[in-house]
Amino acid sequence: ILKRSFSTTPSMHIIKNITVIGGGLMGSGVAQVAAQTGHNVTLVDLNPEIIKKTEAAIANSLGRVAKKLYKDTPEEGEKFIQGAKSRLRVMTDTRESVKDADLVVEAIVENLEVKHKLFKSLDEFAPQKTIFASNTSSLSIGDIASCTNRRDRFGGMHFFNPVPVMKLLEIIKTSETSEQTYNELMACGKALGKVCITCKDSPGFVVNRLLVPYLSEAMQLLERGDASPEDIDTAMKLGAGYPMGPIELADFVGHDTTLAILESWHKKFPDNQSFNPSIVLKKLVQEKKLGRKTGEGFYKYT
Ligand code: CAA
Ligand code: NAD
Repeated sequence: ILKRSFSTTPSMHIIKNITVIGGGLMGSGVAQVAAQTGHNVTLVDLNPEIIKKTEAAIANSLGRVAKKLYKDTPEEGEKFIQGAKSRLRVMTDTRESVKDADLVVEAIVENLEVKHKLFKSLDEFAPQKTIFASNTSSLSIGDIASCTNRRDRFGGMHFFNPVPVMKLLEIIKTSETSEQTYNELMACGKALGKVCITCKDSPGFVVNRLLVPYLSEAMQLLERGDASPEDIDTAMKLGAGYPMGPIELADFVGHDTTLAILESWHKKFPDNQSFNPSIVLKKLVQEKKLGRKTGEGFYKYT
């Protein structure tokens, strides 16, 4: 087994204050995990309705984590929940949210132009010391960072859904990310309780470069009428040992996100048919059936 050794340097900052931008599926999970591991967290979303939903989702998820961690000591579990909640504040004001941030984790829509608009303004309002990280699934971290004047303090932190459960964190170092920033992101990932792996700034990093073509092939199989959604899912759960089949996993990830990933990769690699978004996927997005988060995708959720 190869072991990575990474040492802290005397000038290394400890990341204590974390601002998470985007309170959807991923941002809510990142904010929760950061708060439950002792960080001061500010969670921002432009949409006050989403913030309400996010607070409820975090409370529910904290309850599930507490139940697991403090099975025999419910009073300790209650303290854990209250502690995490007390370290988490939510707001809609992006400018205010980054005032004291050591780290900003961006988890907004998978669109380069929208991310650029956000990071340009963050670059103006965040202190010099603040490290920026994107949770993008498929875009180049270097391309996202290119609109800022802190490309040395910019890296990728790619979490997995559901963040409170999935143990992995991919840390992405671009050619311009400084060694110090990289070390601070690795140390922060560890403090968040995650197992960190490092990947170059390549499309999809490790997990999505392998997972997204698999999801896309499953949708193409469905579109050809080779098997039903239920049979595809059963096949991969019982035949390959996956916890979810690809069709239910696509519903879980969100079809707007998967379509955005495939469209940008299809443009870059037109010869790779696995990246060609299927018509069923485009139709679901058009109909706003984005998966679990909207209550319907390939399947219906009550
Ligand atoms: N918060 C807290 N705890 C949660 C939770 C949440 N949101 N969701 C599940 N859990 C906990 C449950 O409480 C339960 O705990 P116990 O074992 O103590 O009972 C445990 O996790 C298992 O949950 P369930 O029994 O409800 O359901 P399950 O066994 O089917 O597991 C799952 C649910 C963890 C989501 C599992 O189905 C799974 O691992 N699915 C695959 C997920 C996956 O592949 N994610 C990656 C998507 S790709 C991505 O994220 C990258 C990208 O860029 C697109
Ligand atoms: P989502 O649609 O659930 O949430 C995005 C949130 O961002 C929405 O609540 C929206 O209101 C908010 N938002 C949009 N623009 C904003 C802005 N300028 N300022 C503040 N908030 C803003 O999306 P998601 O699934 O959480 O994905 C977010 C990011 O994480 C994307 O880059 C995606 O590729 C990546 N990602 C997704 C998954 C997944 O499984 N869904 C996994 C890993 C990474």
